[in-house]
Amino acid sequence: MEPGKELTATLALAVFTAVLGSLQYGYSLGVINAPQRVIERHYGRSLGVWPQEADRMSPNASRTADTAQEQVHPTVIMYWSLSVAIFSVGGVLSSFLVGFVGDFRGRVKGMLAINVLAVVAGLLMGLCKMWKPHLMVIAGRAIMGFYCGLTSGLVPMYIGEIAPKAYRGALGTLHQLAIVVGILISQVIGLDFILGNDAMWPLLLALSGAPAVLQSLLLPLCPESPRYLYILLGKECEAQESLYRLKGAYDASADLDEMRREKEEADKVPRVSISSLICSSAYRRPLFVALAMHLSQQLSGINAIFYYSTAIFSQAGVSQPVYATIGVGAINTVFTLVSVALVDRAGRRTLTLAGLGGMCFCAVAMTIGLKLQSSYDWMSYVSMSAIFLFVAFFEIGPGPIPWFIVAELFSQGPRPAAIALAGCCNWTSNFIVGMTFSYIQNWLGAYVFVLFAGLLFGFTAFTYLRVPETKGKSFEEIAELFRKGVKKAPANGKSDDVELQRLKTATHA
Ligand code: GLC
Repeated sequence: MEPGKELTATLALAVFTAVLGSLQYGYSLGVINAPQRVIERHYGRSLGVWPQEADRMSPNASRTADTAQEQVHPTVIMYWSLSVAIFSVGGVLSSFLVGFVGDFRGRVKGMLAINVLAVVAGLLMGLCKMWKPHLMVIAGRAIMGFYCGLTSGLVPMYIGEIAPKAYRGALGTLHQLAIVVGILISQVIGLDFILGNDAMWPLLLALSGAPAVLQSLLLPLCPESPRYLYILLGKECEAQESLYRLKGAYDASADLDEMRREKEEADKVPRVSISSLICSSAYRRPLFVALAMHLSQQLSGINAIFYYSTAIFSQAGVSQPVYATIGVGAINTVFTLVSVALVDRAGRRTLTLAGLGGMCFCAVAMTIGLKLQSSYDWMSYVSMSAIFLFVAFFEIGPGPIPWFIVAELFSQGPRPAAIALAGCCNWTSNFIVGMTFSYIQNWLGAYVFVLFAGLLFGFTAFTYLRVPETKGKSFEEIAELFRKGVKKAPANGKSDDVELQRLKTATHA
């Protein structure tokens, strides 16, 4: 392979180490679902509101889970809901700080420093039986959410900056792959005969902090982002050294030239803060695209499936919904792998369009299946298949791409602020869907997914009209594409390249 284009061991180590943070995020997203009843019982006991009857009738908490369901005390429900929701609140708040943490001492030291949060959160949850479990878990989940808000921005930022152009999509997609693997692991070990039981659930929650320990051991071996070193700190030699470590022995002059030009651009304007990013008309188009892509990820309704899949599967007539939920986790992982393989060939725009369009179709099929299943038995297969396909289409494009495309859409100066804003938009919309879905479901019944179908249709049209292809382009070329105000993204990568060529000739003339 051409020097500078190979996947070196150091690059692989750096990416693997970074995505341990994403794994932790996915694990924390998924871990809270399976052991709900078991944990509620503990909350109830420690608050003195759990009916003794339930314990006497059947001391095995995991088996009494459903029998005890009707008896859950409102105070327990309140503490439980808080334990779930506080995670997103932590994420919303900290996602704003991504730029600050990444720029303060660098991407690597930033990721290292925040691991303290993950370990503290893990300990609080693991040791929760020693004091008031409900308070310890809520504190742990809040801190873990705060950690995840930071990691969900820092990881794509670091990977986007160290990845060679040709693999930027595939390596960027590994962030999502680690998230979905984390979700799957938590679903499997959360089964009641593994860790989701009365004795082991604190360990189940505590394990969400484990990848941080491994990551802290590996991060000191990872090179700092060359773009951070050069463009932000002006340390050309260190940046070059970092490039050699990441890409092997190669002629780094083209990469250094590109960074030099980007630095000159960045030095002309004051540091881009979140407020200046919002106010500046120069960044309006890429910002609009970045935020819309994050909104499309969350408002597609994907987490309605993840948070409520067990209930949705029971409604669709599945007898063992927990295993169907694990099936969703497995499909999720397999199709993210498909995306890793395709994203640098098919392109971001094509995969996002195919994914959103496919999800829209599945949302309609799900509605028909749910609506007609009382009249025709076989309709439950339609809703089941639609749910699986919905998740598959999500992972092909709308799941992974928004996470890393923000780093591609912005040059070094505005990148941290843009990632922070997009992350905040993602966390906030995730929180809103999580909080409102069950109310909307009560209101719309079987038609609940029609709402998502409508939104998905709108986002598909937006992507078609406004999202440019970033595959294989340098950050400079992408910024130029926006700067020159290409009004409408052409339908395929080819004409995009022609447009770029025209812009470059115009600039260099
Ligand atoms: C994305 C979303 C996250 C969702 C996950 C499902 O990472 O940001 O909210 O739960 O995909 O795979």
